[in-house]
Amino acid sequence: MQHKSITFIGTGNMATALIRGLVKAHYPGNCITAHDVNTEKSQALAIELNIRHEADLALAVKDAAIIVFAIKPNAVAAVCQDLKDHLQHKPCIISVAAGIQLATIARFLQTDALAMIRSMPNTPALIGCGATGLYANANAKHADREWAESLFRAVGIVHWCDKESTLDAITALSGSGPAYIFLVMQAMQEAAESLGLEESLAKTFSIQTVLGASRVALETAHSLAELRKQVTSPGGTTEKALEVLEQGNLKALFARAMQSAHQQAKVLSSHYDTL
Ligand SMILES: NC(=O)c1ccc[n+]([C@@H]2O[C@H](COP(=O)([O-])OP(=O)(O)OC[C@H]3O[C@@H](n4cnc5c(N)ncnc54)[C@H](OP(=O)(O)O)[C@@H]3O)[C@@H](O)[C@H]2O)c1
Repeated sequence: MQHKSITFIGTGNMATALIRGLVKAHYPGNCITAHDVNTEKSQALAIELNIRHEADLALAVKDAAIIVFAIKPNAVAAVCQDLKDHLQHKPCIISVAAGIQLATIARFLQTDALAMIRSMPNTPALIGCGATGLYANANAKHADREWAESLFRAVGIVHWCDKESTLDAITALSGSGPAYIFLVMQAMQEAAESLGLEESLAKTFSIQTVLGASRVALETAHSLAELRKQVTSPGGTTEKALEVLEQGNLKALFARAMQSAHQQAKVLSSHYDTL
């Protein structure tokens, strides 16, 4: 990865995960600057990871080739207001803020001239197992895309979207997805407890089962439907359980849940666009 100067605005969960990924990939700490309204937080992170810290926003972005918006969506307008007079050097903006379209950020910054990349990572990025959707505007050059891709590859897998609206579907899949799987694991744990297993055993085995199944699915070329068939013997226990899940229309339930998440992603996107 080329060593450009990068500034993170906001040093919460997502920024911390990304900075850790960079540091782990031996990105030089003196090329990374942390800035947060909560200066104690960014200072502590800077000390821990041996990166730079700058409390003044204008100074934090002065020499940055890349600025990462790692703030909550409702803070983006205010940050842009404070930033807009400090971007003459045309840095590339990478936004992690969920639901905010690049055109909205460009409007807040009062410029159409910047390379901008929008990302939709997910919480497993915090442990290097993320899945991130990326979309770049027309000003982003090959080098900007390459750099953004390396940043998110340091915390998981990456997919480039041709249309920005695809990020809404990615939000419904991988953005919200960890919560769906937590619910599935919780349901399995509670069902196991009702079968007489002790709580911690039920929890650990439901988690390990999801982890094991995920790894098998990742490591083979078979489709998910084929993998399911492979572990379902006729007349066996798995077949009986799957019959019940199918009678309950699990797939249709997931389809409805994810359509609802997708719709909400679009609603939030248009809401931020009207600010
Ligand atoms: N966490 C995830 O898994 C995940 C997944 C996908 C997308 N995202 C997106 O990533 C973004 C960051 O999420 P997060 O979980 O990292 O949030 P977070 O932990 O709340 O971090 C945001 C940080 O930004 C600070 N901040 C607020 N206003 C600021 C300002 N004007 N200037 C500088 N810093 C400011 C906050 O300080 P205070 O706490 O003092 O307000 C906080 O330290 C969000 O837009 C979220 O939608 C997160």
